[in-house]
Amino acid sequence: MSDYWKQHWDQHYATSEYVYGVEPNQFLKDHARLIPKGKVLCVADGEGRNGVWLARQGYEITAIDYSREGLRKARRLAERFQVTIKLVEADLLSYHFGSEEYDGLVSIYSHFDAENRIKLHRNYAQALKPGGVLLLEAFSKEQEKYSSGGPKDIKLLYDEESLRASLPEMEIVLLREEIVTLEEGALHRGPAAVVRGIFRKPERPMLK
Ligand SMILES: C[S@@+](CC[C@H](N)C(=O)[O-])C[C@H]1O[C@@H](n2cnc3c(N)ncnc32)[C@H](O)[C@@H]1O
Repeated sequence: MSDYWKQHWDQHYATSEYVYGVEPNQFLKDHARLIPKGKVLCVADGEGRNGVWLARQGYEITAIDYSREGLRKARRLAERFQVTIKLVEADLLSYHFGSEEYDGLVSIYSHFDAENRIKLHRNYAQALKPGGVLLLEAFSKEQEKYSSGGPKDIKLLYDEESLRASLPEMEIVLLREEIVTLEEGALHRGPAAVVRGIFRKPERPMLK
């Protein structure tokens, strides 16, 4: 199953054009300042537009994706902007994220079913340092009505309530479902229904 989708993404990216463009996702661009400066993990970073842009803002980036083709284009994009990012070819579902490693974690249009989402979000929360920030955008269930991109299987689409429930220990900085207009390369264009969230891992309580 995983091999099928990995091949699907490799084929998707096997073109010289950047299918989601080379500009970062707008929500990330608008709110990146909320991520403490330091180490940021970009999951499912694809062709690297988000990781490379964050590196240009001074973050130390690790970008993970299982598409070799996507990572190859991410490397080229990093070279174009003369930044260094660490690229990891791995399946998120078996990746060891570690504990309290990152100041930020960025997940843009990374879609999984409810069971895997709960598992992954637990790992993401664990991987953040206290005070670290998770920034996430995903297509919401309303996206079924639009043709601006995203998975066609409703089980892979997100909603505000289950997103909140999947991150029980995190403070909510911002969480909303909204209709936005996407202008991201050739594949994300036009009105789209998304969930946008920013979550902060609580600082450890001071010992008395
Ligand atoms: C819609 S693209 C988004 C790419 C990027 N975040 C962006 O916004 O431009 C989804 C990405 O998730 C990656 N992906 C899907 N399932 C994955 C998995 N299990 N492990 C690693 N990467 C995965 C795909 O290879 C693809 O690059």
